[in-house]
Amino acid sequence: MDRDRLLGELNEFLRIPSVSTLPAHNNDCRAAADWVGAELKRVGCRDVQYLGSETHPVVWGKGPDVPGAPTLLIYGHYDVQPPDPLAEWTTPPFEPTVRDGKLYARGAADDKGQVFCLLKAIGALGKPTVNFRFLIEGEEEYGSKVLFDLLKREPQRVRADAALVADMSYVAPGWPAVYTTLRGLAYAEITVRTSKTDLHSGEYGGAAPNAHEELSRLLTRLKGEDGKINIPGFYGPVKRPSKTELAAWKKLPFNEKDFLTKRVQGKGLVGLKKYSVLERLWALPTFEIHGILGGFTGEGAKTVIPAEATAKVSMRLVPNQKLATVERQLAAAVKRLAPKHVTATVRFLHGADPAQIKLDGPAFGVLSQAFKEVTGRGTVTARAGGSIPVVPALASAGAPVILTGIGLPDDRLHAPNEKLDLKQLWDGIEVFRRFYELLGSQESGVRSQN
Ligand code: BES
Ligand code: MN
Ligand code: MN
Repeated sequence: MDRDRLLGELNEFLRIPSVSTLPAHNNDCRAAADWVGAELKRVGCRDVQYLGSETHPVVWGKGPDVPGAPTLLIYGHYDVQPPDPLAEWTTPPFEPTVRDGKLYARGAADDKGQVFCLLKAIGALGKPTVNFRFLIEGEEEYGSKVLFDLLKREPQRVRADAALVADMSYVAPGWPAVYTTLRGLAYAEITVRTSKTDLHSGEYGGAAPNAHEELSRLLTRLKGEDGKINIPGFYGPVKRPSKTELAAWKKLPFNEKDFLTKRVQGKGLVGLKKYSVLERLWALPTFEIHGILGGFTGEGAKTVIPAEATAKVSMRLVPNQKLATVERQLAAAVKRLAPKHVTATVRFLHGADPAQIKLDGPAFGVLSQAFKEVTGRGTVTARAGGSIPVVPALASAGAPVILTGIGLPDDRLHAPNEKLDLKQLWDGIEVFRRFYELLGSQESGVRSQN
């Protein structure tokens, strides 16, 4: 493996600012799709297609036929989250830089670096061992609508003996993992209006309602100081993990104090105190405020009562909760909690159902074996707090979905100074190479369903 050459190629991919949520980056998203397409051709795909959108296409590829071998569907995404706040990056987000064995760039771990691993592992094989299919999308960070529409029209695209999703991390350094759940997500804007226009705070202050104040109160009614979310029906379908699962989590290399001091790097943790931190992160739903707009936020001072304020919020959902139901519940709760002198509206931007994956079928053992040979340890089983919208659809298509990844928990996804440790990258290529090799051998037990 020529590491310098590979790193140069990954850097090309990372330099493309393919931020899917910002229309100003539509051309960049397309450029990232083209980069993926060219790479798919390089690993032997003759049939590469750009589907569903001019600007954020799903890149489809079909590798060379390997008669009798299993079919492996590889999923990933080439889009990234916005890089702001830019001032907090040590080096610019789209100028990949290596420092101390780590590659810093937006997308280094989520998910360009991992897509790169999956593809370069095929290059390292010599000749293909399984029937590769690829779905690499460009809208994962914005709810995956293009991919959902594609799969509605053409569900056969996901037919496979196993699906491999490398968009996660180890549970700790040296501890590779497979995941059994992902949380879902409901993303919304809550807008509060209190008068026709902004008002002079001297002439009107004391008697006129203030949109920011009303919005703040509404938000703190939706989620109290104790961390409890006050949306009727919201917790109804939530099930506690079994005793066995909770006991298994105690054996994972996770320490609440280290989580606070090394990863959160704050002064204290919050949330429902009667549940362990892992249960709060993996098995309970959330309500988060991402940003609040409105009123005067410019330099200097302006004495005005804002007429309108908007909060961008999202809720993470856990297995058995349904996106559509939660959206209705939030809209109803906002209506009920807003006082009469306030007009409150909710607009939903995107979302995802939670996913639950059974680890049955030999492919999971094959992956564990590959990790064990390369890193010295097989996979542990865990849950994940994040979301990947398409996973429930992949799972309902029938093939086992392998949720795994080569990142580390401190990669700072979506945050300034996102990074990927180069050792994780080189190990990752070798892990997936070995996985493809083992999967293709007769003894793997993963049989072709074709
Ligand atoms: N790779 C993440 C999902 C993830 C992160 C899974 C950490 C497990 C652990 C993915 O790219 C992501 O960030 N998804 C979004 C989806 C949303 C915008 C619909 C998320 O979770 O915020
Ligand atoms: Mn991702
Ligand atoms: Mn992400």
